[in-house]
Amino acid sequence: MTTAHAPAKVILFGEHAVVYGRPAIAVPVMQVRACAVVEDGPPGQGMVIHAADLHLRHRVGAPIPVQSPAYPLEATVRNALQRLGIRGLPDLTLAISSTVPMASGMGSGAAVATAIVRALAQHLGQVLSPREVSELVYQTEVIHHGTPSGIDNTVIAFEQPVFFVKGEPIETLHVGRPFRVVIGDTGVHSPTRDVVGDVRRAWQAEPEKYEALFDRIGAVAVRARKAMEDGRGSTLGKLMDENQELLQAVGVSSPQLEKLIHAARAAGAMGAKLCGAGRGGNMIALVAHQRAQAVAAAVHQAGAVHVIVTEVGPWLP
Ligand code: PMV
Repeated sequence: MTTAHAPAKVILFGEHAVVYGRPAIAVPVMQVRACAVVEDGPPGQGMVIHAADLHLRHRVGAPIPVQSPAYPLEATVRNALQRLGIRGLPDLTLAISSTVPMASGMGSGAAVATAIVRALAQHLGQVLSPREVSELVYQTEVIHHGTPSGIDNTVIAFEQPVFFVKGEPIETLHVGRPFRVVIGDTGVHSPTRDVVGDVRRAWQAEPEKYEALFDRIGAVAVRARKAMEDGRGSTLGKLMDENQELLQAVGVSSPQLEKLIHAARAAGAMGAKLCGAGRGGNMIALVAHQRAQAVAAAVHQAGAVHVIVTEVGPWLP
């Protein structure tokens, strides 16, 4: 039996603009994670995927509609087996579970796919580099999101803070001083594919306006990188607020997100913004160590269904 995990992630700066080639910063979140367990047999059954959380049991190869949650899971398995040079379907049972909230900007799909790829590779006695895992998971991301930037698979497969520019070699980020964040979930499911599609249509209708907004978001991400490396929390907080204003202008904030963001700021957060695709899902607030619990409580009070307090970096290479 082989077990593998993968963390969640949050985008600290640059979501949406990253799809249009601007830089973004994302960090892994270790408190919540996906888990994949691979076991041999039973003989002759082929490959079975079991996801108890989703009440799903699927035999790989059985017909499934594209909308089924089994579809990306099967695709991940098939791509991984092909990459590992396995012909046919081995007799394996793959059990999947995850504590990463779904459709809420924490990379749940990429976390599950990363855990599956890692577990299959290990079980079959092979080693895949983080880059190879990331490339395989990207293929699953395409199924989930249509035109993903690749940031989720990268940060999750590498388990390092990343400064990410689509199509460019991965740059991990050194965090000068650890900082604390509160992540609050609106509980509103907001599929990334839909929001990314809406932003694309808005960009097509008003390219100049959106290009200018993306430029400004990209510039915030560049300044944020420097502030993270230098360990300057108050600058980072201001940059989060600036990024949030730009995301509002892009049209991806929501009343629920803003309620949590305002609550966090009122309770003493240094800055706060939505994270991920927006319209629902999560927000993130930067907090001084001693304010973390008060901000978490305020975000909860304002209606968050799930609140995580976590620390970002510094990571050792
Ligand atoms: O909602 P998430 O965490 O999957 O993030 C989406 C981030 C976007 O920039 C909106 C899309 C992308 O592919 O980068």
